[in-house]
Amino acid sequence: MALKRRDFLLFVGASAGAVALHSCASGNSGLSGSSKKAAPKSSTVGFKPVRGSMPLETDGIELTKQVADYGSYEVVDDLVLPEGFTYDIIGAWGDNIGDSRFGYNNDYLSFIETGKDEGLLTINFEYISGSTWMQTYQQVIGQSLPFDEVKAAVANSKGKINAFALPDSDALKAKIREISKEGLVDQGLGVISIRKTADGKWRRTHSSADRRITGISGLEDDRYLKATGPAVAIFRKQQGQGYIDGLGDRIIGTFQNCAGGTTPWGTVLSAEENVQDQVPEPVYVDGTSFDPEALPFQIDDKTVDGRANVFGLAGNKYGWMVEIDPANPDDYGTKHTWLGRFRHEAVALKAVAGKPLAVYSGCDRRGGHLYKFVSKGTINKPQDKANSQLFSDGMLYAAVFEPDGTGRWIALEPKTSVNPVLPSTVEGNLVPLPKRPEGGIFEVKTDADATSFKEQFATLGDLYEGNETEKQGAILIDAHYAANAAGATTTARPEDTEIAPDGSLYIAFTSGSPGDDGGPDKRIFKGLKGETPWEYGWIVRLVEDGDESAAMTFQWESFAMGGEPAEGGAGFANPDNLEFDANGNLWMVTDISTSKHNQTVTSRVDAEGKPLEQTDIQGIFGNNSIWVLPTSGSNAGNAYLFGIGPMECETTGLFFTPDQKTLFLAVQHPGEQHGMRKDKAAETRKFTLKTTDGKEFVQKRLVPLGSNWPSKGTTDPPKPAVVAIRRLDAEPI
Ligand code: FEO
Ligand code: CA
Ligand code: CA
Ligand code: CA
Repeated sequence: MALKRRDFLLFVGASAGAVALHSCASGNSGLSGSSKKAAPKSSTVGFKPVRGSMPLETDGIELTKQVADYGSYEVVDDLVLPEGFTYDIIGAWGDNIGDSRFGYNNDYLSFIETGKDEGLLTINFEYISGSTWMQTYQQVIGQSLPFDEVKAAVANSKGKINAFALPDSDALKAKIREISKEGLVDQGLGVISIRKTADGKWRRTHSSADRRITGISGLEDDRYLKATGPAVAIFRKQQGQGYIDGLGDRIIGTFQNCAGGTTPWGTVLSAEENVQDQVPEPVYVDGTSFDPEALPFQIDDKTVDGRANVFGLAGNKYGWMVEIDPANPDDYGTKHTWLGRFRHEAVALKAVAGKPLAVYSGCDRRGGHLYKFVSKGTINKPQDKANSQLFSDGMLYAAVFEPDGTGRWIALEPKTSVNPVLPSTVEGNLVPLPKRPEGGIFEVKTDADATSFKEQFATLGDLYEGNETEKQGAILIDAHYAANAAGATTTARPEDTEIAPDGSLYIAFTSGSPGDDGGPDKRIFKGLKGETPWEYGWIVRLVEDGDESAAMTFQWESFAMGGEPAEGGAGFANPDNLEFDANGNLWMVTDISTSKHNQTVTSRVDAEGKPLEQTDIQGIFGNNSIWVLPTSGSNAGNAYLFGIGPMECETTGLFFTPDQKTLFLAVQHPGEQHGMRKDKAAETRKFTLKTTDGKEFVQKRLVPLGSNWPSKGTTDPPKPAVVAIRRLDAEPI
């Protein structure tokens, strides 16, 4: 049986509302070769899709014309939008914000209206792209930093040094401090006030709410971040097995702020993701941190990381969900520890009056879990700012996805049984578990070792030390490894989570490949013909049983799968941020890693004639891009290409104004690989592509090297920037 992708989705939808990828995939011979006559109509999306780098079922081009039409392609260093749409820059790296500056690598955006056509835009600044940041720092910020001197000084020690242990009088320490500080200033959060003027453009109004919360807030001022929940008991420890920073429950800064969420009561949640790049991630049995020396300062031509090392920041205070009230100029953020410490990508809230609050968040690592916090108290009025109190008591759960399309939640508490994930079920056969009694983690590679771990420890409480509150705090601090020990499903890098208008949860699983951290459950995360690893990702829909926030069981199904149309994919790769518009269409941006962008694909097979791995042909997908997927009607699950980002960037932070007339978008790390584009540098590269019915053909593609976006002058540095997208006719998008 050869099913078209659309038929497959209908088949999924017809099967009791929820069927697993695996059970759908088995029993059919895949999609290539299925006869496709006409492309689906794009009437439901309200724009003519832009022309991407490969043939799509949704591009409006007839099958017979695909080879001719896609035989050559030019990638452009700009934000490409459909006819009738335009964009304006709202702010870019280095611009002034309050007493600081607009940071690097803007990601999550949240717009909270304060009046007609005006409001507060909260912006996450996730990370710095080492080589491009160093290359352009002086030109953009107007100051120099001693990169070359410090690089030379640590070159003999593999570019790493434990600067924390150097005496304060040491000249090298002072220079590392200077670089680390500026790097951390470029991370965190920002709030800016904006207003739409009569010409349809958004402009900054510089109100008293404008401010930065940076990676060093609190270090040289009193702008410490606060914390709630059981991990506070660990932060307040005066002594323990590991490193204690002496600050109690005060926290210096927030960094690696990736995506986030906006509460119905007008606060913003910001997710600390890859904190392992700046602080030690593993912890001791009592939840205290490893010494700063475990993650030294690191600098080479490509990287400036371990920037918390010189300041002696405690690892267990990072990797949390931070809440801020943009409207309160004195609020510098609160880390809610009941939501767990892991590589938080984003957050989605199910806030229904009379029910407990449910907070969903994925841990974006290979083998990371999906989590849900359920509050102890219930919501009275969703718009009431007092609802922030609900974050301070409840329970954190991790998801178990069963291959049959059902699932359940496991409480991460001391009495939960140890029942580790078996390596044989995981792509790459690797599961990291808490190492005892030393603390930290160890790699389990055989089912026998996982079983022996289970024989040694009965409950999560046996893995952590302290009184009940302290054990709970340590479990939350070590949430990922505790969840591995409890048997939560290892997944395919969950990126965004978003609640649909119908109350279901959409999850972007961005990549199914395994890595050093682990891999996804291979019984679940597969291609249509059962292929593993499936690199290109999925969008999955999860429905809680009874639609209840506090439900302990759920159903799940595949909504759309990344990949080439000829293999049953929807035409995108590596879905990341999600956002619903008022019509219930799902907007999605991709995060193909920069090193893969437009990487040439001269053949689909290696020297021995073996098909290349998916990770070796990702270049076919071109630049990162913006897609729209209807969630109902005959086009449900089809993906329409709305926009394409500038060179070597990631498009992030989708957020609509309430009137739907503006779509805010953050363009992160333009020029991340080649830096500033010089003299319009470009290369022509060859790509072996497939028509939507699977016939190979060759495309000649012109690829600019580096970026000059957003100002686009031939000697302009690339800068991360936030834009407002609108229709030229001023109608809703
Ligand atoms: Fe920061 Fe997982 O994207
Ligand atoms: Ca992301
Ligand atoms: Ca989102
Ligand atoms: Ca990402």
